[in-house]
Amino acid sequence: MWKGRFSQPTSQLVQSYGESVSFDWRLFAHDIRGSIAHSKGLVKAGIITADEQAQIEKGLLTIQHEIETGNFEWKESLEDVHMNIEAELTKRIGPAGAKLHTARSRNDQVATDVRLYTRDAVDAVVMLIQSLQRALVEASERSGGAVVPGYTHLQRGQPVLFAHHLLAYVEMLSRDIARLQDARKRIDVMPLGSGALAGSTIILDREYVAKELGFAAVTQNSMDAVSDRDFATEVLFAIALCGVHLSRLSEDVILWCSAEFGFITLSDAHTTGSSLMPQKKNPDVAELTRGKSGRLVGNLMAMLTLLKGLPMTYNRDMQEDKEPLFDSLDTIKAALAVFAEMIAGMEVNETRTRAATSDPMLLATDLADYLVNHGVPFRSAHEVIGKLVAHSISEKVAFADIPLAKYQEFSPAFEADLFACLNLETALAARKGIGAPSPQNVAAQIARWKEALS
Ligand code: ARG
Repeated sequence: MWKGRFSQPTSQLVQSYGESVSFDWRLFAHDIRGSIAHSKGLVKAGIITADEQAQIEKGLLTIQHEIETGNFEWKESLEDVHMNIEAELTKRIGPAGAKLHTARSRNDQVATDVRLYTRDAVDAVVMLIQSLQRALVEASERSGGAVVPGYTHLQRGQPVLFAHHLLAYVEMLSRDIARLQDARKRIDVMPLGSGALAGSTIILDREYVAKELGFAAVTQNSMDAVSDRDFATEVLFAIALCGVHLSRLSEDVILWCSAEFGFITLSDAHTTGSSLMPQKKNPDVAELTRGKSGRLVGNLMAMLTLLKGLPMTYNRDMQEDKEPLFDSLDTIKAALAVFAEMIAGMEVNETRTRAATSDPMLLATDLADYLVNHGVPFRSAHEVIGKLVAHSISEKVAFADIPLAKYQEFSPAFEADLFACLNLETALAARKGIGAPSPQNVAAQIARWKEALS
């Protein structure tokens, strides 16, 4: 492709060191789509005839079919997906094929291909996130009135509906979608026509080509266009954060299905056994997802580090953008798909959640609120209840079993109705402010998400 000025062949080591076709072959459909659109632009610019364009298009579609059916031979010596396809086209159709690369460089070509590929992949990831959201909303609905302790510092805090806990993840995932959709706006800009770095003296109707490729806009600076990988970096960040969210959910799932918590049971289909310990049922899917989230963070770091020292414009370093990008897209897609299945097969063990929420200490804050409602400043109320907690622990007597007269020794503001706030149902129903976990609120949130995800 560049043999004109060289008198020595490329070293075999350089060839295998520099090849990218072993991983960028997967851009083939987008590369061909880009080339067909470019060929139409060349007709409009008067560089090729409609007949030559038809030969190019037919040739490329035949090659695409052969690739799709496994009948195409990729050659390492042709370095990358772009040169493999172009060389094969020219071999087949001759001069028309040799005109295809007019006013184009692999620099704007690869930038275009990766944007087309990433745009499709982002749409697929968004759909998979929505499927997981749907599974979580359905699990919330199935969990009915199951109540669990809400934790801070992994210490029991206050009671919440299990559904409220699951819906927290639905919220996180909706922000992941919003980030991907926002990144998509910056993916959706066409670099083709920027040439190697300085456009071309052959003037193409870039807006026409962009329309052919479904791009919303064209880039406005040819140097930026060939050296910009911000769009891919943003996607890697959105995926890494989504992975971190899945990792946190994984950690919850792992805790919940431990014997110590026992809040949920995962289906046999989504757990694995031990080759040694016959009783084991392990949450490998969650553990693998927690582990794989490290890769997603690593891929983001790889991309940022790759770009940070690059002078303008294209540098070959940028070929290294693809493996982290592909790996993150593949990894998050697989994680989302398997997670949605696992959540769909998850069951709540109400005996265990009820046992955990029978801990009266979960309602200590409600008792403090009771005093506040009876005119006691919150800081004083907090101290009174703190002393009552100490009393309850040292005397081994639950809040419900402390007599009213004793309560009144701690604060004269206590009256007989204090016992009403020691009831879990009352305590939950009372949390009816926006965003709080009253059963009515949670039911409304489930309805809202079902509507939004339908
Ligand atoms: N395989 C290359 C990449 O992915 C394509 C662009 C090569 N351009 C060049 N001038 N060597 O970055």
